[in-house]
Amino acid sequence: MSIERFLTGITPSGTPHLGNYVGSIRPSVAASLRTDVQSFYFLADYHALIKVDEPARIQRSTLEIAASWLACGLDPGKVVFYRQSDVPEIPELTWFLSCVLGKGVLNRAHAYKAAVDKNSAAGLDADADVNVGLFMYPVLMGADILMFNAHQVPVGRDQVQHIEMARDMANSFNHRYGLHFVTPKAAIEDNVATLPGLDGRKMSKSYDNTIPLFAPRDQLQKLIGGIVTDSKFPGEPKSTEGSALFQIYQAFASAEETQALASAYASGIGWGEAKALVFERIDQELAPLRAAYEALINNPAHIEAILKTGADKARAIAAPFMTQLRYAVGLRDLRAQASQIAKTVKLALPVFKQYREADGQFYFKLQSAEGQLMLQSSGFASPKVAGQTIAALQTRGATALVDMVGQVQLAEGVASDELESALLALRDAKAETKAR
Ligand code: TRP
Repeated sequence: MSIERFLTGITPSGTPHLGNYVGSIRPSVAASLRTDVQSFYFLADYHALIKVDEPARIQRSTLEIAASWLACGLDPGKVVFYRQSDVPEIPELTWFLSCVLGKGVLNRAHAYKAAVDKNSAAGLDADADVNVGLFMYPVLMGADILMFNAHQVPVGRDQVQHIEMARDMANSFNHRYGLHFVTPKAAIEDNVATLPGLDGRKMSKSYDNTIPLFAPRDQLQKLIGGIVTDSKFPGEPKSTEGSALFQIYQAFASAEETQALASAYASGIGWGEAKALVFERIDQELAPLRAAYEALINNPAHIEAILKTGADKARAIAAPFMTQLRYAVGLRDLRAQASQIAKTVKLALPVFKQYREADGQFYFKLQSAEGQLMLQSSGFASPKVAGQTIAALQTRGATALVDMVGQVQLAEGVASDELESALLALRDAKAETKAR
């Protein structure tokens, strides 16, 4: 009934590799096809500036990553696919959030702390070579998420702290200025495989052990041929335990295929033969995607147009939201009088209606300004409890619903964010009346 919003950012700082594909692109594209969620995918190029100061590399990586996601099946007609720097409302929101977040919270951010610890260990000034962008990284990420009121953010464990900070920012802002933000949750991707690289350690740019996702077929073959193995001869039984080759195969093969390779290991398949098999299996999955990728990467204008369309969609949400937030914090048109605004808002407000039924119980419902039923309560024995339940909804917004299971129900076809904005409108109107 209510549509959950998912949001994922990818920093364009390198060339996508098999580890990115298995760990992020493939599961995210699969998730984006769900019809019960609305997905936002974006290229976090402002984030890339923190660590990359080669303009050509940022541009190239943005192109490659966009082409990769599209080639792997991301449907820009179904999801909102955009480039962070095409949405200027995001850095504006970053500033708003930086004014409600304690600096101490950022001092404790893992990436910043790691840089400080490294400097201290080397006997350098704690902040040597640390730019403010790195320090502010979590605030920019918070703005990415809160701008679209995302409910769920699929991330690896290393990013969970950032989501907690985003929740912190949402709560601090809501507390000061009224309910504007949903508190996002990290959707932790524990079950997706992390892929070993050529040397058996986790596949990562920083270890220089990656296999580029769209390496041409012969290069893919060569790279797979270079995956580290032990020095057992053909005919000698081999262990699947700790075999990078086996783990990589597993990420592409069905359960039966994986089982068959395990048996082949046990009965002494030669490494050359095993590698040929792994290569063919991976290439079978990647070849059609590679063809799509090559067509895309050779047509930057097409990708640019897709991203611009995505930015239009993103800004259609971000721009009015930012207007609302500017008003909320007091960056207002000087002609706007609080009292006048309260009056105009009042004309179109949703209403809570309390009533008693023939069963002697007390009920309430929330109707939209247009008279549509949004929320219906069950019967309460006392009018006081019914009143308290309404009050909780008014102060806590739609999040209060989790404590009201069985007592109130969203009406058919009403999304929780519609309820959220209705409650918000009521709250704002109340605050304005008080301020008068
Ligand atoms: N920090 C993420 C990474 O390094 C990228 C990112 C930026 C992001 N903004 C985001 C991820 C918002 C999720 C939500 O991978």
